[in-house]
Amino acid sequence: MNFDKPINRLNTHSAKWDMMKPLYGVDPEKGTSMWVADMDFEPPVAVSDALKTMADQGVYGYYGNDGDYRNAICGWMDRRHGWNVNPAHIFTTHGLVNGTALCVQTFTEPGDGVVLFTPVYHAFARVISAANRRVVECKLAQNDGRYEMDFDAYDAQMDGSEKMVILCSPHNPGGRVWTVDELKQVAAFAQRHDLILVSDEIHHDLTFGAKHTAMPLAAPEITDRLVMMTASTKTFNIAGCHTGNVIIADEKLRAKFATTINATGTSANSFGLYMTQAAYNHGDEWVDALCDYLDGNRKIVDDTMAKIPGIKSMPMEATYLSWVDFADTGMTKSEYTDRVQKQAYIAANHGETFGAGGETFLRFNFATQREQLVGAMERLTEAFSDLQ
Ligand SMILES: Cc1ncc(COP(=O)(O)O)c(C=O)c1O
Repeated sequence: MNFDKPINRLNTHSAKWDMMKPLYGVDPEKGTSMWVADMDFEPPVAVSDALKTMADQGVYGYYGNDGDYRNAICGWMDRRHGWNVNPAHIFTTHGLVNGTALCVQTFTEPGDGVVLFTPVYHAFARVISAANRRVVECKLAQNDGRYEMDFDAYDAQMDGSEKMVILCSPHNPGGRVWTVDELKQVAAFAQRHDLILVSDEIHHDLTFGAKHTAMPLAAPEITDRLVMMTASTKTFNIAGCHTGNVIIADEKLRAKFATTINATGTSANSFGLYMTQAAYNHGDEWVDALCDYLDGNRKIVDDTMAKIPGIKSMPMEATYLSWVDFADTGMTKSEYTDRVQKQAYIAANHGETFGAGGETFLRFNFATQREQLVGAMERLTEAFSDLQ
């Protein structure tokens, strides 16, 4: 587990590196890719070994008998999150964007409202709108430079046509680990407005000191309206296997979701199952080391941003995605993005894609080799040196 090991991902069909030029105009030979949320690290050896064993076996037929896979998921949730999952409650989807889409199909009708606390992971809104449902943006408040929810405002916003709320916990892009009290308030909000609560906890393993609480532990009273989403893919950097878990404890909700799984012919990819099982059974030490390394990178990003007048990175408790506000530079969006892309040669996500409240932000993925990161931060400092 050497996170400093240089890895050239160019021309490997890596979305992160091979799409930075077409999408952001940044030459990968000169620059650093800091957009889409995958890391430039190899996964735990156990994961690569599982794939090699599978490849060597040489026959790639249908997967069956998934008891060990389910037990690996339950073991991880129990060990790492103190959350007792019944293996029979787990569905496997083609990742969690797919999981979100299947939830929207199952629990809402065209025209219904789906509540998001924005800014938030952009694919939620894309999926909701594409399914002809309405995105209801409840804007996060900024208190002391970090995101908090304002339920009085959200209560006033509801008109009764909302059927679902999707929570991102921990929060991408703000890096918040929601407190138990905040989670209880989200649960109470879902109850007050009779909403299905989908809790996307894909970032739950990537925390820095703060303790993430799984929604069923914070608010057991809402089991009858709760859908949990987790995955091994962010944690272990295996997003290409497109495997996610939708976990539903309530029998009625589970039966409805099972119907959608059948109606859409959704069944899992065997490579993803092997990788997930290996990661969850053998990845504890690797994740602990990863979080330490990411924490070091986080400090470098925060220190860099703190030294540039007018630029503010939001304090982070989780994820490897730094949410940086350029509002106080007084520059237009094209002025500061040009500096980031054309002078610092960094490809970073544009904030407005995350919804209301994200307009003046860029999101920087710092899960890369330290040397690469330091180079990028030096170029960024230089690109804004006239402000200092
Ligand atoms: C909150 C959240 N959910 C889901 C995903 C993507 O999930 P998947 O690759 O499993 O579709 C991401 C990726 O960044 C994410 O941040």
